[in-house]
Amino acid sequence: MKYRHLGTAGIQVSELSFGSWLTFHTKSGLKATIAMMEAAYDAGVNFFDNAETYAGGKSEEFMGAALKKLGWRRGSFLISTKLFWGLHEGPNEQNTLNRKYLIESIDGSLRRLDLDYVDILFCHRADPTTPIEETVWAIHNIIEKGKALYWGTSEWEAADVLSAIEIAERHHLHKPVVEQPVYNLFERHRFGSSYTSLYQDRGYGSTTWSPLASGLLTGKYNDGMPSGSRGALESVDWLQEQLTDAERLAKVAALKPLAEQMGASLAQFSLAWCLQNPFVSTVMTGASRVEQVHENMQAIEFVESFTPDVMNEIDRIFGIAR
Ligand SMILES: NC(=O)c1ccc[n+]([C@@H]2O[C@H](COP(=O)([O-])OP(=O)(O)OC[C@H]3O[C@@H](n4cnc5c(N)ncnc54)[C@H](OP(=O)(O)O)[C@@H]3O)[C@@H](O)[C@H]2O)c1
Repeated sequence: MKYRHLGTAGIQVSELSFGSWLTFHTKSGLKATIAMMEAAYDAGVNFFDNAETYAGGKSEEFMGAALKKLGWRRGSFLISTKLFWGLHEGPNEQNTLNRKYLIESIDGSLRRLDLDYVDILFCHRADPTTPIEETVWAIHNIIEKGKALYWGTSEWEAADVLSAIEIAERHHLHKPVVEQPVYNLFERHRFGSSYTSLYQDRGYGSTTWSPLASGLLTGKYNDGMPSGSRGALESVDWLQEQLTDAERLAKVAALKPLAEQMGASLAQFSLAWCLQNPFVSTVMTGASRVEQVHENMQAIEFVESFTPDVMNEIDRIFGIAR
């Protein structure tokens, strides 16, 4: 495993990291959760991602219980969580980044994770109804209290990230250092031109999500909906359209020979493709079984195989002009 700086921040994250969305508690019991975290850590993963709302808070509880059981030295791993959607109904506790919600919610997350601090605190989405200045100050205060070490944004517009950075710089506050955007062979828009200056000129890091487009890029949906897969989950029926889209499935089928030529599985190929982008600090993987973790961790062996010819062929399949 190699490690990359989180943009210009001092900490380094493993090129592949591990997240808990739609898996911990939702699909994997505690035993499987522990086994998957252990497999990732043994492969060199040092960064584990979570969010307040994943499995209604149970995902953080599972991660906390797993960390307790695994007994790793706190200095050897990084944990992130994300706030925005909220766990409670009410005008101030949902879809918000207001000061009261943030100050209250971080304590809930830390309690569930059974940790004194998270390494990275993400604003899970932007909140156009709260002044960015209020959010920046609240997170600065959370960091000053030692409850988080760094903070970042997820799926924010580049202009809003820039505003947050500028507010923080103006008042000498802790500024956001990392964005958490979707990034995979199908979804590249966040890495488009509007973000390039954040990465290039402001040294912003990135922890990218859904590298396999929820499993579509493993090829497992090409023969229909496999039972027990994420696509079969009733709670995410909105995903089914993407996972059964004929055009997308045809592109996945067209990628298969390229992966085979490399000696990689489609999952490894698709993960390694994300990693060849130098603006990616870490590719956050997800898995519902320990075998998937083992397979996915081997993706790092294929990053150097993306020659200009392979990249051109991928662009041809996706209809992208160079
Ligand atoms: N900031 C955000 O808004 C946001 C949004 C989404 C995710 N995230 C973070 O990013 C992490 C990764 O996202 P993701 O879980 O969507 O990643 P993904 O890699 O796109 O999908 C992971 C899912 O694909 C299937 N899979 C993985 N490896 C496989 C393999 N080798 N063979 C067959 N199937 C395989 C598994 O689902 P099944 O086995 O159940 O089919 C697994 O749970 C999340 O855990 C979360 O921490 C953040």
